[in-house]
Amino acid sequence: MQIIANYEELRQDLLSNDRRFSCVNEHLAFFGVDLVELSNKYPSPAYVYSKEEISNNINEIKQAFKEHKTRIFYASKACSVMGILKCIKDNSIDIEANSIYEVKKALKIGFKPEQIIFNGVVKSKEELEFAIENDLFLINVDSEYELDLIEQISTKLKKVANLALRIEPSVKAKGTHEQLDTSFHAKAGVDKEQALALCKRMLNIPYVKLKGLHMHVGDQLPIVEPFANAAKVLVDECIKIQNALNIKFELINVGGGISTAYKYEKDNIKTKQENMKIHFNANDYAKAIINEVKRLGDITICIEPGRKIVSSAGILLSKIAAYKQKTLHPLTKDDKAIQIEWKFLNAGYSILSDSQHFDWFYYVYNASKITKKHDTSFRLAGPLCDGGDWFKIGTNSNKEFLLPKDSNIDDLIVFLDAGAYTIESQTTYNNRPRSAVILIDENKNDFLIRREDSFDDILSCDIY
Ligand SMILES: Cc1ncc(COP(=O)(O)O)c(C=O)c1O
Repeated sequence: MQIIANYEELRQDLLSNDRRFSCVNEHLAFFGVDLVELSNKYPSPAYVYSKEEISNNINEIKQAFKEHKTRIFYASKACSVMGILKCIKDNSIDIEANSIYEVKKALKIGFKPEQIIFNGVVKSKEELEFAIENDLFLINVDSEYELDLIEQISTKLKKVANLALRIEPSVKAKGTHEQLDTSFHAKAGVDKEQALALCKRMLNIPYVKLKGLHMHVGDQLPIVEPFANAAKVLVDECIKIQNALNIKFELINVGGGISTAYKYEKDNIKTKQENMKIHFNANDYAKAIINEVKRLGDITICIEPGRKIVSSAGILLSKIAAYKQKTLHPLTKDDKAIQIEWKFLNAGYSILSDSQHFDWFYYVYNASKITKKHDTSFRLAGPLCDGGDWFKIGTNSNKEFLLPKDSNIDDLIVFLDAGAYTIESQTTYNNRPRSAVILIDENKNDFLIRREDSFDDILSCDIY
């Protein structure tokens, strides 16, 4: 059985060495705000974001790329709550969208069309028409079929479509969850062997402007090497196409993928998902990309980071809502019965789905009792009907979590680094509401930026 022997050290680090957290009134505080006090003002469960941490993360990326002309397009799929998009906009970066509703949200919050990249393996005629009509900065073309549609639509509208061609670099996104690998045997993009012919075709379409090539390697890789290898493939391809067609690309779009630590350096146990601990930062990522791209001379790098910008800026607050002790009966006569202490939270995988689908790891702390030793094992489960609705990768034995011995009903339980791809994948399964979202601004003021679903919301699409 593996135990985080240094969990106490990690808790101390959280309170004294982590820029986000501290202790206020014996409670865990996030950017100076007492989370227990905050939770008394809002519904539970709820996500809490820090505007300051979003800026910290964006500045880290800006700094990393400062030696080459680079545009940062926030991948809004990571969190597209309007109040968060506003924070992104306030940091003067651009935005990436993966559906027309993401494009429309970006426009509604005030991004200009020339700040928007439109991605996706399926873009309908209507979506493409909207994108071309609105002069978006870039549409990343995913297939020849899509190019056929763009040709028809741009010719009909007599409007120029700004395009990049997404290619699959065919470099394995080593070390990440297989569902997060998008650059090897992937559904996205075209074979690089097709790229030259497609670019040539684009040059001959009257209302099309070919701006460059695009790729996306994958999400939450633990190492930087695949990005360096894929960037080499993409740059080689750019050079080949530029030479063959006698053109100069305006941009090279390397996608997203700057990972973020879910397990911190000092942690001593392994989880099933070793991409929870990462071995590179934004600087290493930038170096790997710029090192290859500089072979293209004066070209703009476009990047599409999502997770890195919002993950550490968001936490999930839930409460202990029930508890019980149960026996794990032995399977064979040689085994012993084991007593399990269950604590049930009011948030399950309809609120935090990564835990279920991607074997995700989150540090979990009792914010109400943060000064107490977290040294007792509990199994944490959600409220849903499914037997599988419990948090399987914990801080102890890969199954249990370490919390104070006297953790009890209504204690506030916090999941760290929960800001990316979480709210976006919430469901109303079991007709439980999707959660509220709160924002803490630079002055420690808190705002509700999304309310939880009401009963009327849950009924609102049904026709009866
Ligand atoms: C095309 C594209 N760009 C950007 C991203 C954002 O990736 P990340 O959140 O890892 O930065 C994704 C994620 O799936 C993607 O598919």
